[in-house]
Amino acid sequence: MPTINYEFLMLRPPGPKPHFLIGNMPLASRNPLAVFSKWSAEFGDIFYYRAAWIQVYFLNHPELIEAVLVRNYQNFLKDHVIRKSRWFFGEGLLTNEGESWLRQRRLSQPAFHRDRIASYARIMTGYASQMLDSWKQDETLDIHQEMMQLTLRIVVRALFNVEAEQIGPISTALNVMMRNSTGVRLLLPPATRYLPTPAMIQFRRAVRRLDETVCGIIAARRRNEIDSGDLLSMLTQARDEDGGRMTDKQLRDEVMTFLLAGHETTALTLTWTWYLLAQHPADEEKLHAELERVLAGRVPEFSDLPKLTFAEQVIKESMRLYPPAWSVARTVISEFELRGYKIPAGSNVVMSQWIMHRDPRYFPDPEEFDPSRWATERTRKLPRFAYFPFGGGPRQCIGNSFAMMEATLLLATIAQRFRLSAVSNEAVVPVPSFTLRPKTGIRMSPHVLRTEVPA
Ligand code: HEM
Repeated sequence: MPTINYEFLMLRPPGPKPHFLIGNMPLASRNPLAVFSKWSAEFGDIFYYRAAWIQVYFLNHPELIEAVLVRNYQNFLKDHVIRKSRWFFGEGLLTNEGESWLRQRRLSQPAFHRDRIASYARIMTGYASQMLDSWKQDETLDIHQEMMQLTLRIVVRALFNVEAEQIGPISTALNVMMRNSTGVRLLLPPATRYLPTPAMIQFRRAVRRLDETVCGIIAARRRNEIDSGDLLSMLTQARDEDGGRMTDKQLRDEVMTFLLAGHETTALTLTWTWYLLAQHPADEEKLHAELERVLAGRVPEFSDLPKLTFAEQVIKESMRLYPPAWSVARTVISEFELRGYKIPAGSNVVMSQWIMHRDPRYFPDPEEFDPSRWATERTRKLPRFAYFPFGGGPRQCIGNSFAMMEATLLLATIAQRFRLSAVSNEAVVPVPSFTLRPKTGIRMSPHVLRTEVPA
């Protein structure tokens, strides 16, 4: 009797019913996050769908995520969305691969050392205080825009140590670029970048202006190689074991990457935090009590961070419910196996913080904003990839300590002086674009708690 080969039965995980031509297009739906949540609930730890010609394996279990990001990371490349953004980021850390990535990561790592980033604490609280001086009681602010401006000024200063007047052109160019670079535009074929539409002309001009400014600053730094205490100094002076240094092009690419990766994500963390705190007065109260106890009216410093435990829990809980990086994705280099399924070369694996962070197996009452859950034994013992706002494995976010310090210090500085309330009761819609942005900003009003805070 001929033997029957049952291997095909395990070829693909379950998944949603596809349209015969286009498959499934969750990102084009009205509410992609709801679609992913529904499929995850229905199909479990691993499911499959095809978006046109792109094969996607969606992983919803910490062990599967660890298998990709840690145990077999060399079998994966960054996914096509990240690869397409190379025309702008070049070969910066976010987009780079292989040996070249490893060398650049080693050269950049010391710039993010604890002692180094500690020296940026004053820049962070200083710019926050300046912003607060301009806020008026009960006015209406788009808190997302306020946080974007603030974190941009901080990252520009930490990167270049440039004076305020040089921040202006960088900030303007970046704003134009962010306005014009939705996730979809990044995916368009390269030729569309040269279309003579007003938006693309404005976009190209902004990229050119930003390039010129950044390259000008790098050239000036090359001529005068003193340590200005900023990240660029560390990067220009870094040497690998063979004494090799970064070229100007490599410096440009890393700096562009830090500029963009280093401010929007932290701004979003704070934006969503204000949104959540405004809906949870008891937690807001608890935060104010901690700030009163630890700071008693002082501007926070780096050395206060270990004592601002509830503030840190608030940030962690906010990144659980509204992770600024809502997913990470990879393209498979050679076929491999997960849970008995063959995952073919060229297909994509997606791991979503939005989904994992709401998994009731790890977070009871997952939709509930409860910062205190981070003080429990249960949460301390979570599997590594039940919560991964900064990714993980060798490609983990290089700026995670910088970001945690910044978010906690800014939260403390702002919450000490103002309470923020929502202007309307409308639910804010999170849009899973490159990052998780509020669809139309978030309108909030500041209410004065303290008029001045001694430094
Ligand atoms: C709350 C704030 C932040 C969040 C949530 C965040 C999240 C992430 C995530 C999830 C990744 C991994 C992406 C992947 O595996 O595909 C990543 C990578 C990266 N992040 Fe962040 N990030 C934040 C802040 C920052 C800051 C402040 C900087 C720099 C100043 C930064 C620079 C980078 C870079 C350069 C990479 C690529 C690292 C590599 O592949 O070697 N990020 N970030």
